[in-house]
Amino acid sequence: ANILVLNGPNLNLLGTREPGIYGAETLSDIQQQLELLAQQHSLTLSCFQSNNEAELIDAVHAARGTVDYIIINAAAYSHTSIALRDALTAVAIPFYEVHISNIYRRESFRHHSYLADAAEATLSGFGSYGYSLALLAIIKQLQS
Ligand code: DQA
Repeated sequence: ANILVLNGPNLNLLGTREPGIYGAETLSDIQQQLELLAQQHSLTLSCFQSNNEAELIDAVHAARGTVDYIIINAAAYSHTSIALRDALTAVAIPFYEVHISNIYRRESFRHHSYLADAAEATLSGFGSYGYSLALLAIIKQLQS
């Protein structure tokens, strides 16, 4: 199976960005861990990060017909982007929504996600482990 991991704006700064909230790991640390887990389960994993809404939408469109599951941390676009939500529902690829921080413990403008009710599940507040948990959930799904 093919898994696509999408990360939105400012997540390229992980490791140095508000480490008290987002932790010390970099995005490439996280991606390496996911790649290892994917290899162990014979999955093909690709990762893409962009600070640009249109590029994320294009990446979702390009996934149609090739990708079986998407893991997405849309970052601030989670709270703003109907367009990204529409892209995900248009391609009808099941997706898991990840937030490193617990968005419900933070400012009220982070409490709503346009992706949440279209997602298989949302993992919020598990730190970078949320991505691995999402991948483990996909592995379980594929085995059942
Ligand atoms: C985030 C939470 C969002 O509210 C924020 O805009 C981010 C990161 C998280 O991973 O906790 O950029 O998605």
